[in-house]
Amino acid sequence: MLKPGGRYSPAAVAETTRILPYDAETIAEAVRLIESGHLVAVATETVYGLAADATNAEAVARIYEAKGRPSFNPLIVHVPDLKTAERIGEFGSGARSLAQVHWPGPLTLVVPLRGDAGIAGLVTAGLSTIAIRVPAHPAMQALLRATDRPLAAPSANASGSISPTKAEHVAKTLGGRIPLIIDAGPTERGLESTIVAATDGRLRLLRRGPIEVAGAIEAAGTSIEAPGQLASHYAPSKPLRLNAVEAQADEFLIGFGEVDGAMSLSPSGTLVEAAARLFELLHAADESAESRIAVAPVPDHGLGAAINDRLRRAAAPR
Ligand code: TXA
Ligand code: MG
Repeated sequence: MLKPGGRYSPAAVAETTRILPYDAETIAEAVRLIESGHLVAVATETVYGLAADATNAEAVARIYEAKGRPSFNPLIVHVPDLKTAERIGEFGSGARSLAQVHWPGPLTLVVPLRGDAGIAGLVTAGLSTIAIRVPAHPAMQALLRATDRPLAAPSANASGSISPTKAEHVAKTLGGRIPLIIDAGPTERGLESTIVAATDGRLRLLRRGPIEVAGAIEAAGTSIEAPGQLASHYAPSKPLRLNAVEAQADEFLIGFGEVDGAMSLSPSGTLVEAAARLFELLHAADESAESRIAVAPVPDHGLGAAINDRLRRAAAPR
């Protein structure tokens, strides 16, 4: 729901959720929603996904808001085919041959992100790699082709609840928080995709799933990287001070609301906008001439809790 001027109102999150059958009319409605930065839950062959335009940072921020995720995990980007995937990520020979064998299907590949991909920083949580999947389900395929843009989509359930394999499961935890669920019946696999990283000439299994990948090994001495537990989260290289109301010498101040800075997460104090800009501004601060970073206070409710979780990690001594 947009207020005049296009600002997203957190108070207006409650909305009517329609559950519509997968058909051409529903896809047309879903395209209108995705193009205007809204979320659509849609069947894939694994679990129902909560899709947003991966090139629209505020749309991606709404995923976290709707799920009530307490922190920002990097998300999987869905594309219709390998050719489109190669415009977003860099595919070495290992990644390409896995893609050729298993796509479309329940395999996600983590590859280096291309600089010119146009993917919002919140999708990758600021990382230099990206998780990409070509789903096999006709409903998700239709949405991808009709929107003609990459779609970020985690499982369509509130944070901490069970992954949804039916439209009713989605409605149970996200009803009233999203405008549309595309119902295409129960999902075939019922389990999230297998995730394999192909980032440095090796294949590493990051999440077990429906597909077994020969040659993908768990990195020695580490268990599989659980969602949200990624050691590889982007962290700025400079010291970071929290709850700053003004810049000290040598500090690049990231503002919010009434606290101005060199740049602002959201001059109007809007949490969706702040989440959308967070990683871009951390990168900008890291690349600035100042030797330290300071960040204005961000209220600790709703999406603000996820923003603060990320900022505390960025500020933790290393
Ligand atoms: O089957 C699926 O994969 C479903 C459907 C909707 O496609 N999606 C899904 O997304 O399970 P999600 O957000 O629950 O899983 C994303 C996980 C992250 O928690 C993380 O473990 C991994 O993918 N991931 C994403 N980007 C990554 C990256 N750059 N490096 C390493 N792991 C990454
Ligand atoms: Mg999930």
